[in-house]
Amino acid sequence: MISFFLNNKKIQSDCSSGILVLDFIREQVGLTGTKEGCREGDCGACMVLLGRPVENGIIYNAVNSCLLTLGEVHGCHVVTIEGLNRSDGLTPIQRAFFDRVASQCGFCTPGMIISITGFFLNTAELSLEAGIEALNGNICRCTGYQSIKRAIQDLCEVFSGDELKNTPFSEERVALLVKWRFLPDYFLNVLRNLKDFEPYCLETQQSSLDKGVLVAGGTDLYIQKAEELRYKKLVFLSNRPEMNFIRVKDKHCHIGATVTIEQIRRSDVIRGLIPSLFETLSLVSSTSIRNRATVGGNIINASPIGDMTIIFLALGASVVLNNGTKQRTVPLGEFFLGYKKLDIKDTEVLDSLFFPMPKQGSRFSFEKVAKRRYLDIASVNSAILFREEEGIIRDIRISAGGVAPVPILLRRTCKYLSEKKLHTQVIDKAAGIAAMEVSPISDVRGSAQYKTVLLKRFIYAHLMDKKGLL
Ligand SMILES: Cc1cc2nc3c(=O)[nH]c(=O)nc-3n(C[C@H](O)[C@H](O)[C@H](O)COP(=O)(O)OP(=O)(O)OC[C@H]3O[C@@H](n4cnc5c(N)ncnc54)[C@H](O)[C@@H]3O)c2cc1C
Ligand code: FES
Ligand code: FES
Repeated sequence: MISFFLNNKKIQSDCSSGILVLDFIREQVGLTGTKEGCREGDCGACMVLLGRPVENGIIYNAVNSCLLTLGEVHGCHVVTIEGLNRSDGLTPIQRAFFDRVASQCGFCTPGMIISITGFFLNTAELSLEAGIEALNGNICRCTGYQSIKRAIQDLCEVFSGDELKNTPFSEERVALLVKWRFLPDYFLNVLRNLKDFEPYCLETQQSSLDKGVLVAGGTDLYIQKAEELRYKKLVFLSNRPEMNFIRVKDKHCHIGATVTIEQIRRSDVIRGLIPSLFETLSLVSSTSIRNRATVGGNIINASPIGDMTIIFLALGASVVLNNGTKQRTVPLGEFFLGYKKLDIKDTEVLDSLFFPMPKQGSRFSFEKVAKRRYLDIASVNSAILFREEEGIIRDIRISAGGVAPVPILLRRTCKYLSEKKLHTQVIDKAAGIAAMEVSPISDVRGSAQYKTVLLKRFIYAHLMDKKGLL
């Protein structure tokens, strides 16, 4: 039995764990406020809040229910727009949308309200910018975004202040938002009720990992094969809390495979090591996808343009693989053997990755060009880590994606740049070498020639831009 709270009701279902939450809530429960648009994580019409109990409370995130399966929500709280509605009037977010005429046909509105509620549940400080960012996975096709922005601006002005800033996330934040009428009162009891739930996925024990399809965030799997996986045995890695950590040990930073991209983005540890990653990672998909997409899934996905893979290649990361009895470590630069071919066995799981803490004075930067800013994978992407010692380039690593069948390190370019002084002619030559050591193909993301030009531009941007000092 899969058990969870859907709004204020306990659900017990013997449906297949591979059924999409979107289909379940609309077709089986009849809650049609959650809309179906693209079914590909692109439009945000299907947004729900997913509340997952953690050690000291419950964490809510806005996620796309078209990429979320029923088995994944066992023991969790799923909130649809119906679960936010109050019997005594509009919530402040709904009121702001109404006052600013931020909804016309209304198709996108439930998803928007859910995303902004997720923003209030998670944000440390209210700002228009951060509010807009929380909506970067929601598309509106008729109202126009100005009135939606005005609604967010109103909310930020009315509710800014110390009370929100001083309220830690989780239970205290939920209580504050109930007091402010953003959430109905039943939210106060949900955590207590969830504590009674039995664990569901005992099969995540190592012995049975090879007997099912591993699901991390599902943001790649459910785009590729939602139908095929509907009745397959699924193994949900989110049930393995030991794979979710970010810590520094022995001068290395270690990251568990199920850590989400948004967790990395918001991690104080990561911010201490590479401050620019907070900004950089806003270029990866959208907030709601980053709330689910894991670093492990990004690497195993083996896309030649996976953003996290490109970033960790430049940081000199290695992956840790585990078959239940033995662990082995492979440098990320040697992990990709050919297009979608990896040095991993069927019996192995990617447990974690680690990279050496960058030396003081190092510079890191990431460049990505895609057809649009958010919610798009790159045509070409690239990252660099290096340092200058008395003007001499040392410890340089440049990675590049979209220019070969696998994500690569530009080894020849790095060899040339090592021990050189940075000046224009050196950068010109390095860009030329980079262009020679790649083999892009022409596809929907651009011609081979265009991708080569992009890569050359990235070499200039990496080396001439003085930002990114660590
Ligand atoms: C709308 C949208 C926008 C996107 N934008 C971007 C973008 O800008 N940049 C980008 O890089 N990607 C993007 N993606 C792709 C995707 O989100 C990422 O690749 C993501 O990191 C995949 O992680 P996941 O946890 O969702 O993987 P999943 O879908 O859960 O898994 C992917 C594969 O890895 C396997 N797997 C997962 N974890 C492990 C593990 N620990 N050990 C062994 N096998 C494992 C799974 O079995 C599966 O085969 C986007 C996707 C969508 C839907
Ligand atoms: S239906 Fe479009 S994001 Fe889910
Ligand atoms: S109000 Fe019609 S799509 Fe947004």
